[in-house]
Amino acid sequence: MELSKIRTIHLSEMKTRGEKIVMVTAYDFPTARLADRAGVDVVLAGDSLGSVVLGLRNTIGVTLDQMIYYCSAVSRGVERALVVADMPFMSYKISAEQALTNAARLMQEGGAEAVKFEGGEEIAPIAARVVAAGIPVMGHVGFTPQSLHQLGGYRVQGRSPVQVERLMAGARALADAGVFAVVVELVPATVARELTRSIPTPTIGIGAGPHCDGQVLVLHDLLGMNPTPKRFVKVYAQLNRVITKAIRSYAADVRKGRFPGPRHSFAVKRHKK
Ligand code: KIV
Repeated sequence: MELSKIRTIHLSEMKTRGEKIVMVTAYDFPTARLADRAGVDVVLAGDSLGSVVLGLRNTIGVTLDQMIYYCSAVSRGVERALVVADMPFMSYKISAEQALTNAARLMQEGGAEAVKFEGGEEIAPIAARVVAAGIPVMGHVGFTPQSLHQLGGYRVQGRSPVQVERLMAGARALADAGVFAVVVELVPATVARELTRSIPTPTIGIGAGPHCDGQVLVLHDLLGMNPTPKRFVKVYAQLNRVITKAIRSYAADVRKGRFPGPRHSFAVKRHKK
């Protein structure tokens, strides 16, 4: 396994070489460390933590302080992968000054090495200002969860010619603004392929087919901890079952007096007289 630290420049080199980029979300120290040691290229402290670990209905309620808190745990667990943090709802769209101030907090207090913005052409001028200040920015187009209510729910984007044109224009504007990668979410595979070919910037797909330069999944989805995963998710383990079984065994042992046993108990030290 390649052990050298992953930087934003490496993702662009991977696109040039045709090597796929692997990104996964993490929200805490132990899972970030496992993902890093498993060799992923990018760990995303995603605002999906709102629904995945906080039980919120969507990402809109996630605050900057929460992102900093969870990202700091993630960044402590990661040595090799690039750590990207989501800028939460309305923490970067009001002005470049607001975006700069909040991105700086995610880096200084959260340990993020880059930040992610949702949006296309409308966000590109702010992304350019943040990039110019020396903060790496990842874009996110297609279905953008923070705009859930405006987009009319969780639905595939880029199905009509007008939507495709908006998507392409957004990706081009972000590439021109200097973002180092663009997440493409919930877009038809052929549209994601065209978008990937049309910009020099690496694209990282989720629900966007196989032609992007990389893929991202929510960790809890791929581990089988989401009882209702979306169609585009491949589930690689059944941790819900494993965890439930383990907790049931523990409860049964306690109730039957089988735990703790002698191995898990301490004896009084005998002192020689
Ligand atoms: O917050 C998140 O997990 C994300 C991914 C779905 C890309 O933005």
